[in-house]
Amino acid sequence: MNTTILSHPIISHKVTLLRKTDTASKDFRILVSEIATMMAYEATRDLELQDVSITTPLQQMTGKEIAGKKLVLVPILRAGLGMLDGVLTLLPSARVGHIGLARDHETLQPIKYYYNMPKELDKRDVLVLDPMLATGGSASAAIDFLKADGCKRIKLLCVLGAPEGVARIEKDHPDVQIYIAELDERLNEHGYILPGLGDAGDRIFATK
Ligand code: URA
Repeated sequence: MNTTILSHPIISHKVTLLRKTDTASKDFRILVSEIATMMAYEATRDLELQDVSITTPLQQMTGKEIAGKKLVLVPILRAGLGMLDGVLTLLPSARVGHIGLARDHETLQPIKYYYNMPKELDKRDVLVLDPMLATGGSASAAIDFLKADGCKRIKLLCVLGAPEGVARIEKDHPDVQIYIAELDERLNEHGYILPGLGDAGDRIFATK
């Protein structure tokens, strides 16, 4: 199983607040951001370290620093943007790529309407940000596009996941580690996660 369900009382508390209908957009945004920071902490637990020689005010020593090139954060537009600042709080030097997906009306296949990534993707760890893992269609397509662009080490961070979405990513991308704050029950007939929190994009950007 490639899925880690973050089990932490502070995350559970914040997710409950997120779910509530009467949580205002300004609070919703802050909560998504705070949860994203905690998720990023967990998702970066296995980052490689290298030795670095430093001088403290008292003596020289060998410290540890994160090895390799800066990570890339890839929010899937638009709701993924809500997680970005929270992850940047922990990883302020990370690069940020953006991906926007729409469905082609004829083929029904996901197409990129926006795609802008930093250079040397093949040498970087990538964290894909998408608060709601519902059918998994967008996340899977985003990962397809990133892999086609050379990405080799990808993790997917979602606040809520439906079993259907988790199964889709595990099947399409068994090499991708998924991090979710809570695993919900199922999707409804409109593709919404139940019990869920509604439309994450609308709640983050106050568009409904
Ligand atoms: N996207 C959302 O914002 N909410 C859902 O429940 C499913 C997909």
